[in-house]
Amino acid sequence: MTDIKRIGVLTSGGDCAGLNAVVMSVVNAATKFGWEIYGIHDGTDGLTNRPLSYEILTESNFSNTPWPRLAGSYLGSLNTGVKESQEVLAKRFGEGVRELGLDAVIVVGGDGSMNIVSNYCKMAGVKMVGIPKTIDNDTPLTDYSVGFNTACQVCSNALDDLMTTARSHHRALILEVMGRDAGHLAMHSALAGFADVCLVPEIPYTIDGIINKLESIKQSGRTSALIVVSEGVKTEKGEAVTTSVNMVGEKINGGIGEYLSNLINANYKGFQTRVTKLGHVQRSGTPTAFDRGLAVVLGSEAVRLLSEGYTDRMVALTHGEVTSYTLEEVVKAGTAGLDANSSYIKAARAIGMYVGEEI
Ligand code: F6P
Repeated sequence: MTDIKRIGVLTSGGDCAGLNAVVMSVVNAATKFGWEIYGIHDGTDGLTNRPLSYEILTESNFSNTPWPRLAGSYLGSLNTGVKESQEVLAKRFGEGVRELGLDAVIVVGGDGSMNIVSNYCKMAGVKMVGIPKTIDNDTPLTDYSVGFNTACQVCSNALDDLMTTARSHHRALILEVMGRDAGHLAMHSALAGFADVCLVPEIPYTIDGIINKLESIKQSGRTSALIVVSEGVKTEKGEAVTTSVNMVGEKINGGIGEYLSNLINANYKGFQTRVTKLGHVQRSGTPTAFDRGLAVVLGSEAVRLLSEGYTDRMVALTHGEVTSYTLEEVVKAGTAGLDANSSYIKAARAIGMYVGEEI
C-alpha cells in the first residue's frame, strides 16, 4: 500500500486525441482513494517555470463537461525541445514538486517524454508513472499509444475524401502524414484508406518502384491512384526532407510529398500528381471509441499502480493485456519503429500495395 495523499498529472509532447479522457480517468480513479490531484499546466513547464502553473482538479472538471470527448489537452502540453540543461530543469522540477507537496507524478507522454521526464524524476527523487500517448505509436513495449487510433481515422477519412477528386481528375494524389521517425500512422492509414502506395521511413523505396505501380494501375484501366507517404521518409539518396527548424534549432520534417510529386511528374506522364500535407489536423479529431477505452484503462491502471506502492513504471497494453514496464526498460527499448516484416506490411504487399523494396 501507499502513503500517497496528493499527485500531479501532466501531458507532455505533441498533443493528440484522448488526452483529456486519460486525465479524467486519472482524476476519477485517484479521487476514489481520497487523493488530491494537481493538474500541471503545459507539460513540465508548469513545474520548471516560475511562478508554478497548475490547478487543482476534481471530478467536476470533467463530468458534465465536453472535455473528455474532445481532442487537445485541457492542461496544455509542451513540445518545444529542451531549452536548458537537464540538471537545471530537473532541479527546478523537483523543487516545484516539493513546493506543491506532490507525492508522485503521472506523466502522459510519448517515448521522448518518458525518457526526459523520467530523468527529471530520477534526479529529483520524485515518484513517477507514465501513460503512453502519441499519434506516431512509437512508444515502445505497448501495442498502442493513446491518440494513434484517432489519427489513423483522420488520415483514412482524408484518403476517402481524396479518392473522389482523384477519380474525377484522373490523378495520383499524394497524402503526406506525420510520424516523425516511424511509419505506423502511414501504414495503418494506407491500409484503412485502400491506398496503392505507402512509403515509410523503415523501408527503402525507388521512384521506379512507385512508377511501375502507377503504370500497372493504368494498364488495369483504373484512372486514379492514392499514395501515402510518412513525413520521415528520406530521398532515394537517404537525405532528410525538412521545411523549417523549431525554437531550439531542431529540423522539422516536411516536404517529402512535394519531392516525390516532382520526381514522378518528371519521369512519368501516366498520372498527374498533387500533394496534400495533412499537418496538425492529424493531432485532432473526435477521439475514437478505441482511444477513449484505452485512455480509461491505462489512466486507471496508472493510479492503481501508485496505490499499491509501485513507481518508475509505464503502463501499457501488450498483446491485448494491460500491464506495465519499468521506465528503465522503456527508455532502453527506445523508439519503436514499424517492423518491416510485420503482418501489416505482409498484408499490404499481399493486396498489391507498393510499400518499398523487400529487405
Ligand atoms: O510526435 C508527434 C508529432 O505529431 C510527430 O508526428 C510530428 O513530427 C511532430 O509531432 C510535430 O511536432 P510539432 O507540432 O512540434 O511541429
